[in-house]
Amino acid sequence: MSSKKEKEFEEMTKDVFLCKKCVLCKKRKAPVIGYGSLKAKIMFIGEAPGAKEDVTGIPFCGRSGKFLDELLKLNKIDREKVYICNIIKCRPPENRDPGEKEIKACSRFIEKQIEIISPNVICPLGRHSMKFVMERFGLVNDIDVIGKIHGKVFKGKEIIIPFYHPAVALYNPKMKDVLKKDFKILKKYAD
Ligand code: URA
Ligand code: SF4
Repeated sequence: MSSKKEKEFEEMTKDVFLCKKCVLCKKRKAPVIGYGSLKAKIMFIGEAPGAKEDVTGIPFCGRSGKFLDELLKLNKIDREKVYICNIIKCRPPENRDPGEKEIKACSRFIEKQIEIISPNVICPLGRHSMKFVMERFGLVNDIDVIGKIHGKVFKGKEIIIPFYHPAVALYNPKMKDVLKKDFKILKKYAD
């Protein structure tokens, strides 16, 4: 990682802390930028911070994060070596879905993160992130419901592999197994 990129990352971080581009800035406690290595080959993009993330500033540190950690561990993938972030940096009240306007207002930050980290593999978690990432990477024609394209590999300059959001598995053991099966594909991209 060149110091130029580190500097750009620091600047982006400052911009996020100051950002008032959408209504979510009003109630957030801390923005949640990302976690992991700026040299990561695999980038996970979730949706938006939840209650625990809003307090700690760390993505996926609550219950769905625990399951994400389990999925990584099962495939011997180190959380420190990948990069985990969200399309939206501030928590939507009552954990409602992020709105189109908010996703658009926040997109410059995820764009910058993708540019700086430049991962080989991008894994959107959940349908909002899947839509955003596939549109961004010229895969509009491949967009389908997450139930159909989860775990599939889309190859362009970057490899895109959408997954169900880990939260869907919290109350549904069947979905846990689907996610566990889907995540196995990441083993070959991890080294
Ligand atoms: N769900 C997400 O999409 N992101 C988080 O950081 C936590 C829960
Ligand atoms: Fe800014 Fe994104 Fe937070 Fe909205 S969600 S205030 S656009 S950082």
